[in-house]
Order: sequence, then structure tokens, then C-alpha cells
Amino acid sequence: MAGAIPATPVPDPRRTRIFRIPALHALALQALSLLAVILLLHAGWMLFGLRANILFAAFLQGALAAILSWRRLAPWWIAIQFVFAPALIAAQSLQVPPLFFLAAFALLLGLYWTTFRTQVPFYPSGPRTWESVAGLLPQQPVRFIDIGSGLGGLVLDLARRRPESSFTGIEVAPLPWAASRARAWFARRRHGGASRFLRGDYNRLDLAQHDVVFAYLSPAAMPALWRKAAAEMRPGSLLLSYEFPVPDAAPDLVVHAEAGGPALYGWRM
Ligand SMILES: C[S@@+](CC[C@H](N)C(=O)[O-])C[C@H]1O[C@@H](n2cnc3c(N)ncnc32)[C@H](O)[C@@H]1O
Repeated sequence: MAGAIPATPVPDPRRTRIFRIPALHALALQALSLLAVILLLHAGWMLFGLRANILFAAFLQGALAAILSWRRLAPWWIAIQFVFAPALIAAQSLQVPPLFFLAAFALLLGLYWTTFRTQVPFYPSGPRTWESVAGLLPQQPVRFIDIGSGLGGLVLDLARRRPESSFTGIEVAPLPWAASRARAWFARRRHGGASRFLRGDYNRLDLAQHDVVFAYLSPAAMPALWRKAAAEMRPGSLLLSYEFPVPDAAPDLVVHAEAGGPALYGWRM
């Protein structure tokens, strides 16, 4: 991780449950289904002289993977499991140059990086949310951090509004992080303001170093974030979460950036 923020001994509970990660679980079930289909088709050929075409085999694998995923994975995975192998065969028949797939893979990897593990994909918040966050900041100079800062829009906007304060973003995915660094460089030349972007996992940060912690993550990330915030954040500091509440922890404030839109939740620690 870039930057000099000390690591804390709080363990990341997700590291200990690698086989519970949905994408890896789904992949393991696909591999199991592939093995079963190979054995089944081989037996059919040896015993009865039956030969199956590749699309039939792909659908058989998909059906088996979908059945195995039933009640083990979230409902949308059932559909993904069913179409995965047939979609691979269909994509191959399009005769798209392999370099295209390599480039698409590199782009998605740079953008989503550890999403398969964190279950927090990249999607940016917008100016209305930034405005609401700005309205909740204390009047005195603050140390603010966006944990999972994406393209850095929030941090850059706040740094422009509040040049006396310090604004940090930390982002695990290399592509959005590189974009936010470049944007910060241009923004500093134009408006000044103290913004910085670290690349790394926020689980390794000490949240006690910040007066306001902002998160726009996912429901899957909230229980662990709450445990970390409760253990580390100082009394009087503020935890903000856009769109996703903490299960079983009533927020001290709820703000709607736009009517009918997602809420911004806040907890005074
Ligand atoms: C929904 S986006 C929000 C982006 C930004 N905060 C905004 O408001 O526009 C969540 C971001 O968190 C990043 N992320 C997920 N888990 C992370 C982790 N453990 N450490 C650092 N960043 C993480 C993802 O890569 C993604 O870019």
C-alpha cells in the first residue's frame, strides 16, 4: 500500500473465509459440473457409443452447475451458472480476435480488481451526494477519508470546497486509483486544496486517524466495516455510508440527497 498510514492489528474476517466467496464457490461448482459431464459423456460413449455435441455438453454442465448452486448461492447466480458454459461456446463461435478478450479482461481487472472477494464493485456517487456530504462536515478543519474512493470525485469536490481541511481517498483497484491520482494532480494545479489518494485496502488503515469516514460500498461489506469503525474510530467522529445501512445499528442521521434516491446514513461514534 502506498502512503505512510500505520497498519492496525484488526484482522480482515473475509480473509479467513475464502471458500465462502460467492465467485470462487460458483467457479468450484462449475469445475465439479464439468468433471461430472466429462465422466457422464465418456461413459455414454464407452457403453452405448453415444456422441454428444459441444453445445449439448455445455448446457448439461450449466444445468448441473445451476442445480448444485440452488440454496448455496444467491438466486442470480443460478442464472449465471446456467448460461456460463453455453455463453463461452457462443463467444468462441463469433471468431473475435483473442486480443480483444485479453484487452477486455485487463480493463475489467483494472477496474474491479478484488470485487470477487470484497463484493464491492465500482460505481461512482454523484454531485448531489457530494453536496449532502459537504453539508454534514463540521465547521472546523477536518480529516476526511473516502474508503473505496473510486475515481475520486467526492474527495476532489470536498477538497475544492474546504481548502483548510485534509481529504484522503483509498482505493484498492488500480485503474480508478490511477485516474484519481491524475485528477488530483490537475485539480491541485487549478484550485489548490489538500487531496491525496492511497492505493490499498482500507481494512489495513487505522480509522482513528480521521474525523469523518465516508463509505459507498455494498451490503456485504457493512457488518465488517461497522466492527472496524466501532473498534477504531474516536468518540465524536462521524461514519457516513451512502445507500447501505448497517444491519442492527440505527443511524443517528439520515439524509436524502434527492427525493426518492438512496439515503446517506450517519453514525456519531
Ligand atoms: C461503489 S464504489 C464508490 C466510489 C466512490 N467512493 C464514490 O463515491 O464515487 C466502491 C469502491 O470501493 C472500492 N473498494 C472495495 N473494497 C475496498 C477495500 N477493501 N479497500 C479499498 N477500496 C475498496 C472498489 O474498488 C470501488 O471502487
